Amino acid sequence: MAYSEKVIDHYENPRNVGGFDKNDPSIATGMVGAPACGDVMKLQLKISDAGIIEDAKFKTYGCGSAIASSSLITEWVKGKNLDEAASIKNTQIAEELALPPVKIHCSILAEDAIKAAIDDYKKKKNLA
Ligand code: FES
Ligand code: FES
Repeated sequence: MAYSEKVIDHYENPRNVGGFDKNDPSIATGMVGAPACGDVMKLQLKISDAGIIEDAKFKTYGCGSAIASSSLITEWVKGKNLDEAASIKNTQIAEELALPPVKIHCSILAEDAIKAAIDDYKKKKNLA
């Protein structure tokens, strides 16, 4: 299948690959899997006391679209507060990367990873 230029760009030059210490209280970790294909995405956010996402890193075991989706969201969430980050929709990711229908679940994985990371943070801070 043909990947869009943006997918290939993020796949070949992924932004913010890596991780943070998950025991650091300012770090939120979201780990999700795609039932459709078994791929796994880990997204970590560094969140300031004021609730702003200062940094983000990811590790994704998956296809090009999943890697591109995670790379893209690490760029999108930086500087956002938690509500803004939680409102990022997979449809925006799919549109930005021009994902074909068969690859939509890869963008859903990225949306789910953001939500999972935010849930983790709220649990850590007893906000949930
Ligand atoms: Fe899992 Fe895409 S099907 S790599
Ligand atoms: Fe499964 Fe992309 S995450 S094919």
